Amino acid sequence: MSVRQEFDAWAADGRDKGMEERHWHTAKHALARMPVEDGDAILDLGTGSGYAPRALREATDAGRVYGLDGSPEMTANARSYTEDDAVGFVVGDFDSLPFADDSLDHVWSMEAFYYAADPNHTLEEVARILKPGGTLFCAVNYYEENEHSHDWQDNISVEMTRWSREEYREAFRDAGLHVAEQDTIPDEETEIPPESEFPHEGWDSREAMVERYRVYGTLLTVGVAP
Ligand SMILES: C[S@@+](CC[C@H](N)C(=O)[O-])C[C@H]1O[C@@H](n2cnc3c(N)ncnc32)[C@H](O)[C@@H]1O
Repeated sequence: MSVRQEFDAWAADGRDKGMEERHWHTAKHALARMPVEDGDAILDLGTGSGYAPRALREATDAGRVYGLDGSPEMTANARSYTEDDAVGFVVGDFDSLPFADDSLDHVWSMEAFYYAADPNHTLEEVARILKPGGTLFCAVNYYEENEHSHDWQDNISVEMTRWSREEYREAFRDAGLHVAEQDTIPDEETEIPPESEFPHEGWDSREAMVERYRVYGTLLTVGVAP
């Protein structure tokens, strides 16, 4: 199944909003670290419901904020959730970003980058479109050290790339980006029931659920264009 088919189906049954709710727990902390200045142009790669462009416009003085997604249904939903003319949604693929060289101040991506068919090439594309000093904030929950994410590929038809923390840093550098920061952001909001309620929603033990959310959380890697 293609990205379009898979995620059009997610958008049609409301999973765009479900993702927004879950991802916001850690995305908001990562977004708050983005050094946005007045008028900055920002791109959200794999925007889903488009919550990141909306949040950036509400919390900062960003100028144009774009949300790109390979699913037309996702972008149609995202468009319907805002009336802000400075937020624009584009159907496109991570393989070929429809932006000019040196044209953006920041690129954001949450829980989407690892779906890229060629993630190294996507990083080159990001490096191409960022202005000198521009940043890439790449946030993922699916990564090597987070063993609780390893079976996610079994439930989705789109091929996923599972890199380690080190592989993210190496790939950023190979694409010409300096690594400015790498951190894990714990999810403190997902409710974890008391020991007596386990097994619970697919979790065999409370310990495993605590590790997934409170310890591993979201891996954020920040790159800076030279
Ligand atoms: C798991 S969702 C995450 C959405 C949103 N960033 C969030 O945090 O809720 C991944 C999104 O990336 C998009 N996507 C996946 N692969 C893509 C690709 N190669 N090109 C463009 N968009 C892609 C999907 O259509 C989907 O909307």
